[in-house]
Amino acid sequence: MGKHILLTGGTGLLGKKITDALLKKGYAVSHLSRKPGNAPRVKTFLWDIHKGTIDEAAIDDIDTIIHLAGAGIADGRWTDKRKKEIIESRTKSIGLIYELLKKKSHKIDTVISASGVGYYSDGGDELMFEDSPPAHDFLGTCCIEWEKAVDEGKQLGLRVLKFRTGVVLDKNGGALPQLALPIKLGVGSPLGNGKAWVPWIHYEDVVAMYQFGLEHNLQGVYNMVAPNPVTNKQLTQAVAKQLHRPLWLPNVPAFVLKLIFGEMSVVVFGSTKVSAQKIEAAGFKFRFADIEEALSDIYV
Ligand SMILES: NC(=O)c1ccc[n+]([C@@H]2O[C@H](COP(=O)([O-])OP(=O)(O)OC[C@H]3O[C@@H](n4cnc5c(N)ncnc54)[C@H](OP(=O)(O)O)[C@@H]3O)[C@@H](O)[C@H]2O)c1
Repeated sequence: MGKHILLTGGTGLLGKKITDALLKKGYAVSHLSRKPGNAPRVKTFLWDIHKGTIDEAAIDDIDTIIHLAGAGIADGRWTDKRKKEIIESRTKSIGLIYELLKKKSHKIDTVISASGVGYYSDGGDELMFEDSPPAHDFLGTCCIEWEKAVDEGKQLGLRVLKFRTGVVLDKNGGALPQLALPIKLGVGSPLGNGKAWVPWIHYEDVVAMYQFGLEHNLQGVYNMVAPNPVTNKQLTQAVAKQLHRPLWLPNVPAFVLKLIFGEMSVVVFGSTKVSAQKIEAAGFKFRFADIEEALSDIYV
C-alpha cells in the first residue's frame, strides 16, 4: 500500500496542489486543519493552535508529515499581534504534533516542512547558500524560530527536511497576481531601483520538490528556488511581455514603498539572491529553470 501523508495547511495554495499530486501518485492524504474539509478522497482532522487541541486520530497510520500551515506573511500589516500569529501558527502548530507523537504510538518517520528565503532577508547581490547566516529582522527571526521548532523532531528520531521556499509563481495566488495586476491595467513598473533579486520558483517545481523530498532520503535544509534568479525589473518585464502590455511608467521609488508598506516593504522589494545548487546536486531536475519558460507555461 502507498504511504499515508498528513498535511498541515493542506487547504492552502501549495497544499491543494501537493495534495492533488500525491493522490495522483497513489499516496493516501489527510489534512490537519482549523475547519472541516470537503476535498474528495482526503480525510480532515481538526486542531486549534490557540487552544492547544488536536484530534489524536490524525496521526494514526501516518508515515510522513508535511508542515505547510502558517498565517499569511503578507496578508496584513505587521503589528505585534500579527507577528506573533505569523510565528506561532508555524511553531506552536508543529509543537502540538510533536507533543502528540511523544504520548501516542505511531509510525511517522519523516517531517518535511516549509520555511522561507526570508531566512536570508534583504541581502543585496550576495548569493545565499543554505549555510549563509540568517537575517535578524522579522522575516529572518520568523524563519529561525520556525526551523528550530521543526528541528525538535530530530529528538524524536524523525528525518527532518526543510525547504526554504522562494516566491512561488502561480497565476491564481501568491505574489504573481499582485505583480501582474498593475501591468494588466497598464500602470505596472519595476519597484525601487529594479535591481532587487527575486528568488522565484514555478509552482510545479515546488510540488515536484516536495515529492522528491518524500521519495529521497534528504534531510536538513534545502533552498527551494529556481536556479536562475532574476531582478525585479527583469521579472516585471517578463510578465509584461507575457501579458502583451507595455511598461511605460518610471520605477516606483523605494521611499514610496517604505511609506506604504513600512517594515513589510522588505517582502516587496528586499533583494534575495538564492542558490539552487544543493538541491540540484541531490539530483532534483527543475522543469522550469528560466523565467520566460515558467511564465509562458503559467500564462498559456
Ligand atoms: N506561496 C509562497 O510563495 C511561499 C513562499 C515561501 C514560503 N511559503 C510557505 O509555504 C507554506 C504554504 O504556503 P501557501 O502559499 O500554500 O500558504 P497559504 O495558501 O497561505 O496556506 C497556508 C495554510 O495554513 C493554514 N493557516 C493559515 N493561517 C493559520 C493560522 N493562523 N493558524 C494555523 N494555520 C493557519 C491554513 O490552513 P487551514 O485553513 O486548513 O487551517 C492555510 O490554508 C506557508 O507556510 C508559507 O509561508 C510559501
